Amino acid sequence: MDLYVISGVSGMTGNELARKLVAADHRVIGFDNFFASSVKTVEDLLGDERFSFYEYDINCKEQMNRLKEEVQSRKAVFKKLIYINCAAVVHTEHFYHVESTFETNVLGMKAFLEQAIEAEADIYINCSTSEVYSMNSWGENGVSESDYITMANAEHSQRTSYAAGKLLTEFFMKDAVIEQKIKGCSIRFANVYSKNELYPKHIIPYILNQLQSGGNVELLENSKVNYRTFLHNEDSCAAVLALIRSEEALDGSVYNVATDEEISIIDLVKLCAEKLGMENPQITFKGYRESDPKRRRLNTDKIRSRTDWEPRITLEQGIEMCVEHMRGWQWACASNE
Ligand SMILES: NC(=O)c1ccc[n+]([C@@H]2O[C@H](COP(=O)([O-])OP(=O)(O)OC[C@H]3O[C@@H](n4cnc5c(N)ncnc54)[C@H](O)[C@@H]3O)[C@@H](O)[C@H]2O)c1
Repeated sequence: MDLYVISGVSGMTGNELARKLVAADHRVIGFDNFFASSVKTVEDLLGDERFSFYEYDINCKEQMNRLKEEVQSRKAVFKKLIYINCAAVVHTEHFYHVESTFETNVLGMKAFLEQAIEAEADIYINCSTSEVYSMNSWGENGVSESDYITMANAEHSQRTSYAAGKLLTEFFMKDAVIEQKIKGCSIRFANVYSKNELYPKHIIPYILNQLQSGGNVELLENSKVNYRTFLHNEDSCAAVLALIRSEEALDGSVYNVATDEEISIIDLVKLCAEKLGMENPQITFKGYRESDPKRRRLNTDKIRSRTDWEPRITLEQGIEMCVEHMRGWQWACASNE
């Protein structure tokens, strides 16, 4: 039995991780400040004595000290102590907030890593992002971890602070492993989605919400030509767990985690409409985003060669899960009225 400490635990990857770990009879201490999630995603775990939840902010020293004291007092009886850093300022509209992006994603990650080292944790998992590839986001076989990141053509706007900050965290991770302070790695996730995202800010909940509430979907002009891959949060958290299980993988390096299932944004709207039982969805285009890669396709050979991970949920199945959840939630709201 191991002890896991998860930041951003009510977020998409964190809540599913906690659920899977508790089901495997591990103990989880998780916290979140509800910046972009709600307690609803971990409600089913709250009564379970294997799960301890705190409304903490990764940037609050006093709360992080309390967390460290709890970890120190409990860790002796566990085989391994594992830290997973999921807390981050992620959502698109916050990409432009340089201050909070730096505070949470860089300083928060670093302080959490230092805490893990002080607590003599065995493993630290750092969630990074495929945004670090900027405009070089695809190639014939997808973009690989060993491909050079060309910073020169990264969009010079506040938006890039998200990718730049995450790239820096990869070096904190690498340095700590090289210095033999801890084992661990960084993960460059592609677009993650889940059935219970709090706000329709990511493209999938956004499209589903727009379709539901009027039938017309307003997209950026970029969407006329853009393709993306989408990773279900059950698969993103399965990747985290697979890396933790693989001694060989915890070498301080980075791993792409994504599916190969590329879809155009237009076809994504059609797929969402089909799953909602709607015909001929209306799409309008407004606005344009500079330096938006047409494709983002990651090569995942590295994680597949070092672990047994592969994505299991197809996009079609994932959208069906989102629709089913949305209908259940609407039904529950209607019954309470
Ligand atoms: N969602 C994606 O498409 C995506 C893509 C690439 C990388 N990532 C990375 O994966 C990790 C997990 O992301 P996710 O998909 O679960 O996103 P998410 O937004 O659902 O989860 C992040 C969680 O962090 C919490 N948080 C934010 N600031 C905090 C703070 N100061 N203190 C405590 N908690 C705080 C949020 O409330 C949220 O619950 C993040 O590091 C993110 O940068 C996500």
